[in-house]
Amino acid sequence: MHEVQGVIARGKGQPVELTTIHVPDPGPGEALVKVQACGVCHTDLHYREGGINDDFPFLLGHEAAGVVEAVGDDVTDVAPGDFVVLNWRAVCGECRACKRGEPQYCFATHNATQKMTLPDGTELSPALGIGAFAEKTLVAAGQCTKVDESARPAAVGLLGCGVMAGIGAAINTGAVTRGKSVAVIGCGGVGVAAIAGSALAGASPVIAVDIDPKKLETATRMGATHTVDSSKVDPVEEIKRICAETYEGAEGADVVVEAVGRPETWKQAFYARDLAGTVVLVGVPTPDMTVPEIPLIDVFGRGGALKSSWYGDCLPSRDFPMLVDLYQQGRLDLDAFVTEEIGIGDVEAAFDKMHGGDVLRSVVIL
Ligand code: APR
Ligand code: ZN
Ligand code: ZN
Repeated sequence: MHEVQGVIARGKGQPVELTTIHVPDPGPGEALVKVQACGVCHTDLHYREGGINDDFPFLLGHEAAGVVEAVGDDVTDVAPGDFVVLNWRAVCGECRACKRGEPQYCFATHNATQKMTLPDGTELSPALGIGAFAEKTLVAAGQCTKVDESARPAAVGLLGCGVMAGIGAAINTGAVTRGKSVAVIGCGGVGVAAIAGSALAGASPVIAVDIDPKKLETATRMGATHTVDSSKVDPVEEIKRICAETYEGAEGADVVVEAVGRPETWKQAFYARDLAGTVVLVGVPTPDMTVPEIPLIDVFGRGGALKSSWYGDCLPSRDFPMLVDLYQQGRLDLDAFVTEEIGIGDVEAAFDKMHGGDVLRSVVIL
């Protein structure tokens, strides 16, 4: 057993606390990871607010990189000393998706079996089965993907969630390639990652849409070729105009990524795509939201695909090492997502800064 410091959410809406936690030695199929960096994500805040479930207390943090300290029996993929990025899709190998050769849609993602606890024995619920605002955490070995050990932990740890969701929404779900036009509605961390992924894939134009001019500046730095301030102009008309300028006859973008998670922006995405184009919903709606009313004839008449992207349809063992290599080659600027490095005691302050709009990611350094 390991006694370490971790950040927990004890009850709905209560400020998070840094406290002592107990982490068991890894059992069969498990790995103990010494965390080096962990990004602060909206989902951590949703856990604290009771928006995900009521399994308090939570051990927060899930966008992390670190070094494997020990592994349990039957673990062959990773070994002590490996530098790893953690994921919340440890594929099972046995569900229908895995069996049909599409593990990126695995339905049975698994986590460590043993529980981390408070010193009094209270079991902790690790955020997304990870819990990495802690000096050490216990995960399923399949949640660890070995990557180039010379990469900066604060940058590559972000691949564990939001950045992968955004890049994957574009390149995996949206199948963005060279020669395609892309529009991204909503340029927070997820949206700008979709922009970076589209630029990386060689798409053009890459159109960034947001209501906040500051976000549009960031989007340009991350590879957007055009920006649209949708608080001032109709984004659907602007996207159509920009695409037609590049490709004669285009009636919208080949791929439109919705990274806000709201009915009205999803409707914009629907009407801003070209014939046979694809809409990718990656922003997370709240349970009360419904699909906006759209004539069925418009759905039929335009063809194409209306998709949603869960975790960027990523396969960590395939996508993490590839994206880390592109980062190391200077082709994917993961450093640009790290707005600030903070201490493990500063998570609550980082939550406050999320609403300000100046921070893409605060990253806890351990
Ligand atoms: N039109 C265009 N952009 C909008 C609109 C709108 N009507 N409303 C909000 N936005 C922009 C915001 O200005 C912000 O830049 O959407 C962006 C949302 O970004 P973040 O709040 O930083 O969220 P992010 O981390 O990128 O996640 C995107 O997925 O995980 C969920 O809760 C998260 O719903 C959010 C989405
Ligand atoms: Zn599976
Ligand atoms: Zn996250």
